[in-house]
Amino acid sequence: MPIKRIAVIGAGQMGAGIAHICAQANYEVLLQDKNESALTKGITTIEQSLTRAVQKERITEIEKERTLANITTTASLSEITEVDLAIEAVIEQLDVKQNIFASLDEQLHDKAILATNTSALPITEIASATTRPEKVIGMHFMNPVPVMRLVEIIRAIQTDDATYETVVSVTKQLHKTAVTVKDFPGFVSNRVLMPLINEAIFTVYEGIATIEDVDAVMKLGMNHPMGPLQLADFIGLDTCLYIMEVLYEGFNDPKYRPCPLLRQYVQAGWYGRKSGRGFYTYT
Ligand code: CAA
Repeated sequence: MPIKRIAVIGAGQMGAGIAHICAQANYEVLLQDKNESALTKGITTIEQSLTRAVQKERITEIEKERTLANITTTASLSEITEVDLAIEAVIEQLDVKQNIFASLDEQLHDKAILATNTSALPITEIASATTRPEKVIGMHFMNPVPVMRLVEIIRAIQTDDATYETVVSVTKQLHKTAVTVKDFPGFVSNRVLMPLINEAIFTVYEGIATIEDVDAVMKLGMNHPMGPLQLADFIGLDTCLYIMEVLYEGFNDPKYRPCPLLRQYVQAGWYGRKSGRGFYTYT
């Protein structure tokens, strides 16, 4: 089915990034967030990112204006009706996502595809909240969305081939590379990345090296663009803890136990960049 209009639900860092690249690829985008200030912030982020791209002569002023003109916003979920693909990027809570999917299922035409950007929740369980589970799929974008080339495409056990093929084709239109994975805890990205971050936190917790030195080992020794602790702050320590818990519970395997120091930082409200303090401090 040809996709023309895309709704993005949630205008946070990921939702804004997804709306940006969809609009730039010339899809009509409806960006929804129940919080008006999140919508304003999301649009401002997109504008700033486009302005940077114009300054670097990556895009023209006309392309910037066209991209912005492709985006409309709404605070009301019930206003999302005439879209062919909805991409949800809200808080990582199963009941919240299931409620959104149940509403979209009622409101959208019966060929519309429902995708989630969840980083760890089971797509199969989100799909089961709808009457069209075969049209539900995971599209897991990486942060920062405009920069990172990957979209992990996660097929729920119910997802049909037509839905999968359409979503792979949209991903190509967005100039991203689709990698297909099955719906198991952490998919591939977070099953591999989060234990690495967790182990880096353990090395600090056990006093083996300083935060800066652990990051230096991985940056200088392995050519990672960011050290694992810097990356953990970038992703959000609350998100890292949440994903480790999904892995721990999902596989029932102690190798995924979250480091107590990670838990303590989250208890302190030290979530990383977004709260101003994590392993590093931010002004
Ligand atoms: N939006 C748009 N563009 C951005 C951006 C953003 N938020 N942040 C950086 N950029 C652009 C910059 O404008 C710059 O562009 P040019 O090359 O045209 O100059 C480019 O990215 C590089 O940025 P900087 O020079 O400022 O900084 P850098 O070289 O350190 O790169 C980075 C920044 C791209 C974030 C890089 O450090 C990096 O790749 N880090 C790792 C990020 C990563 O691993 N992301 C995945 C996290 S896991 C996840 O998202 C999934 C999950 O479920 C948890």
